[in-house]
Amino acid sequence: MMDNLLRVVALASLAPLSAAEKADLYGAAAPATLLPRHRRDWDYCTANLCGGAERLGALLDAGDLRELGPEGADRINDAVRAYGVVVIKGQNLTRAEQVKFTRLLGEPVALAKSFYGKDPEPNQPSILRVTNFWANGTWKGTSHKFGDYWHQDGQFWDAPKPVWKSTSEPKHNMLSIVHAQQVPPRGGETGFVDMRAARATLSAPLLKRAAKAAIHASVREIKDFRGGDEEDFAMFPKVAVHPLLANHYVDSGPLLYVGSPHMKVHGLETPEAGKRLLNMLLAHATSPAFQYFHAWEAGDVVVWDNSQTLHQSMPYDNDGHARREYYRSQARIRPPAVAEL
Ligand SMILES: [Fe+2]
Repeated sequence: MMDNLLRVVALASLAPLSAAEKADLYGAAAPATLLPRHRRDWDYCTANLCGGAERLGALLDAGDLRELGPEGADRINDAVRAYGVVVIKGQNLTRAEQVKFTRLLGEPVALAKSFYGKDPEPNQPSILRVTNFWANGTWKGTSHKFGDYWHQDGQFWDAPKPVWKSTSEPKHNMLSIVHAQQVPPRGGETGFVDMRAARATLSAPLLKRAAKAAIHASVREIKDFRGGDEEDFAMFPKVAVHPLLANHYVDSGPLLYVGSPHMKVHGLETPEAGKRLLNMLLAHATSPAFQYFHAWEAGDVVVWDNSQTLHQSMPYDNDGHARREYYRSQARIRPPAVAEL
């Protein structure tokens, strides 16, 4: 089965897309290359998480990422824009090599040292350690977990108004890049949902209501940043405002942008009405029809676009023996004039 899964069918897209191919993209502009999706058979899904998304989780053969050049980076960026989540198998990157790869995709985003439980990667400020062991090799225990709720990385960054057609670059448009070096024996999938699909299938009443509202995101209210230092909080805007109905930074396709369940929603009759709308939108967006759960294998590199997906880390066997060792970096999405092929 794996041979079949790893097979990458790169289809020349010189011919126009069929109606079905267009529908699968949910408003994303067509990619330069159509890609297959990374999928498991349904038997596997009875014991593990899969999800039924049409678009997310495209499988891309990018060669050895240590040898990637600007053209290869453009190809990856184009695939991530069109498919939201792209899976690249069989890599073995050092932290420095991951930073170099990240820089090819876009401007790297450095982390605040005190966020995510104060576990910075030594000498690599752009790398987040997503692991159950501290850098000194001791087990973090069972309660040390982050990202275990649906969210978009970077929603606390500012976005000028209007987001689309702005001359300055909105900072919340960012890619996340995760490289798995060691995987737990069971569980630990990363779930994604498709916010282009959620927007394309939103009912008219909810669409009308969402058009009036915006999320207000503060870095101080992000669950994973609790306990952060004041000097780190001070580096970010007090409040970032994002309309619930947005357009993609590069191809202007329609998106639903909700941030996370912790956001305040302004623009409706009361804060409570805003919260109720957010909960309805989250329930819609996280339907199994829009979910893709990535089951990790060592060597995987997954690149996703936070502006058009939510993600969540799922529980895994964590008894102090098996190591989960993933590394995350982030890059800002390149402005349209550069990113368009
Ligand atoms: Fe995250």
